[in-house]
Amino acid sequence: MAESTSHEPSTIILEDWFREGVLLAPEAAGAVRSLLGEGFGLPVLMSSHRADCPLEAQGWHHDADSVFGPELNYLQVFYYPQDTPEEMGPTEVLPRSHIAKASRDIEWTGGVSTASPAGTVFITIYPILHRRAKATGTGVRHLLKYNYWRMTPPLRDWVVEPDFDFRAANYGGHHQAWWIAHMFYWLCGDAERFRTVGGQGWPYSGSQHNQVGPSYGFPGPPRRMPPG
Ligand SMILES: [Fe+2]
Repeated sequence: MAESTSHEPSTIILEDWFREGVLLAPEAAGAVRSLLGEGFGLPVLMSSHRADCPLEAQGWHHDADSVFGPELNYLQVFYYPQDTPEEMGPTEVLPRSHIAKASRDIEWTGGVSTASPAGTVFITIYPILHRRAKATGTGVRHLLKYNYWRMTPPLRDWVVEPDFDFRAANYGGHHQAWWIAHMFYWLCGDAERFRTVGGQGWPYSGSQHNQVGPSYGFPGPPRRMPPG
């Protein structure tokens, strides 16, 4: 990282030590396998976001060509090769900002910092709202960014909790739950099954703990289940 000046040093993907130690490290690859299915595709392009600190915060943005919808065909992944505390301007993300196309006033909600130790991989959905945070420290912050790709149709073949209840699950509050549930059904391979009557009906879950009975409008669990 110290020697490479390219903003797209993609040949690092071809280095065995990087493939084994980062791209296919079990902790990262296991999560990617759960989200993208079997035989997921490795990145072919590497972005290097080098920041000479100190620096003011970047503007909040969705990366170019963000597509909003229930499909999850690739992932946006970040890797910190060195310790990246708050003063070195780690990326900030706004969770759930991928479910609304319009930029939001985030001054009052604030983002979530990804300050973390060397070797951290964090996985997001591509259209999430994010920025480089203000950096007050001195030195160079390195960040690599890349995508993994789905190669097979979605199927619920990740590690499943045996008593998971599609009807009672918490999908979130108003304007969120229907989107999140739709994506979850898509990931289970049965987006066609998903429907909602709206209002207080399934999958709205924000007041579920105050209900005296199960939600109305549940369409049933996904029909396509993994073999066995
Ligand atoms: Fe970005």
